[in-house]
Amino acid sequence: MQNESKVLVTGATGNVGREIVKQMLGVGQAIRVMSRNVDKVTFANHVEVVGGDLTNAIQVKEALKGVRKVFLIHVPGADSFPQVCREMGVEHIVFLSSSAIESATENAIGRMHAHTESLIDESHVDWTFLRPDAFMSNSLQWAKAIREEGVVRAAFGHVKSTPIDPRDIAAVAVKALCSVGHARKIYTLTGPETVTPKDQAQIIQGVLGKKVEFIDIPGEMARQQMLQYAPKEIVDALFTLSADSLADPKPPTKTVEDVTGMPAHTFEQWVMDNRAAFR
Ligand SMILES: NC(=O)c1ccc[n+]([C@@H]2O[C@H](COP(=O)([O-])OP(=O)(O)OC[C@H]3O[C@@H](n4cnc5c(N)ncnc54)[C@H](OP(=O)(O)O)[C@@H]3O)[C@@H](O)[C@H]2O)c1
Repeated sequence: MQNESKVLVTGATGNVGREIVKQMLGVGQAIRVMSRNVDKVTFANHVEVVGGDLTNAIQVKEALKGVRKVFLIHVPGADSFPQVCREMGVEHIVFLSSSAIESATENAIGRMHAHTESLIDESHVDWTFLRPDAFMSNSLQWAKAIREEGVVRAAFGHVKSTPIDPRDIAAVAVKALCSVGHARKIYTLTGPETVTPKDQAQIIQGVLGKKVEFIDIPGEMARQQMLQYAPKEIVDALFTLSADSLADPKPPTKTVEDVTGMPAHTFEQWVMDNRAAFR
């Protein structure tokens, strides 16, 4: 599966990119990572690290020298990136998109990822689009309240989703980057089961062996809280996506297993591997 040319991993300090770096090193793939904070991050010795912002075309050009494949994270304002890839001879972009594109109702999260997918397609560089459901790692936002008070306070307590382990998204990305047959494929990625936030709190309780109470935050209160850290169109999109899931919950896909040959991790497995954060 090893690929001779260098792969640029963007978002390498994030949930998915970090896993991609680990897994790429495991298969002996030469990689370069790009970060805005090179002074604050450490990678294994043989990882080449370049400083740069995806919205800065000059830094992007520098980062793409000698690169044939790219793992791309969505960054607002980086519209020129696919065209610069084309000019620099990049052959394949694996883009971390979102399943919000596939929701029944048009929403800002889906729209912004669809926009980047279109730009990549128009650049005539080959692509693979990964469209994951919510990340299991989103539940780390509950960790402090679980540690300190034994509670999860969250909205949409009864809304079903199919959260996915970032390791599984990374495993699909590594296959798409390091083996053939993934060009122009759209992979809708989910975990192996359907759960609600309330179910997730119960699973965490089971793994920790201590009481974790779920407290449902009413809609309007949740909206006001979210507006403190996210723009209105994103908050509206999260409410739209929840309403769509409530009306018509989507079943899990088997794409992770089909692409990687390994079953997707369950939420319980993810909590077991990350339980230190909740203790
Ligand atoms: N969370 C979910 O439930 C979910 C569901 C579906 C899709 N997604 C997609 O996944 C993305 C988040 O992925 P993640 O959790 O792996 O990442 P993350 O942990 O949120 O980290 C963000 C990464 O993006 C990099 N970054 C941000 N702005 C940048 C810029 N201007 N130039 C270069 N790099 C930049 C950061 O790198 P540095 O700080 O090192 O520069 C960091 O590595 C979302 O934005 C969305 O597109 C998320």
